[in-house]
Amino acid sequence: MILPIYAYGQPVLKQVAKDIEPDYPNLPELIVDMWETMYNASGVGLAAPQVGLSIRLFVIDTIQIKDEDKKAEGIKRVFINAHKVEEKGEPWAYEEGCLSIPEVRGDVDRPPTLRLRWLDENFQTQEETFIGVNARVIQHEYDHIDGVLFVEHLKPVKKRLVRRKLEDIRKGKVKAEYKLKFIGK
Ligand code: NI
Repeated sequence: MILPIYAYGQPVLKQVAKDIEPDYPNLPELIVDMWETMYNASGVGLAAPQVGLSIRLFVIDTIQIKDEDKKAEGIKRVFINAHKVEEKGEPWAYEEGCLSIPEVRGDVDRPPTLRLRWLDENFQTQEETFIGVNARVIQHEYDHIDGVLFVEHLKPVKKRLVRRKLEDIRKGKVKAEYKLKFIGK
């Protein structure tokens, strides 16, 4: 089932999400719905707060990204209860966007290497180091489960440039190819 995506301004996007237990209600169905919702919106990642749930769950599929400079093979994964172990390296700029913030894109600096610990969909503990675009997409989704949006990382000049657009989105004045759920609606 395709779920509505919570738009910029929704309080759930600013909450630090909680770890979940294996008996979380309807988790397999939720994961299926998140994949369907992400692909329907042509996204490469989707975090549970974006469908209104303040839990530490996100999905990513970077296999879809066709980038000649890609440093690693694309991955398709479910991340539950993810926690950063380490980030390192000289931060690099990459243009990010977000399904909750349509029509806004901008360069964000993040470290190139990420070591992450998480549970897979079978609640098995995983730990791995990610680089390049894989690390980037995970860092963006990880921010969502910590209540952080990529626009908060933009440089001050760019932040001023997108301020009006963000206010429009908050008020529901934006069009997208997928269903958005605006605050108060
Ligand atoms: Ni996002």
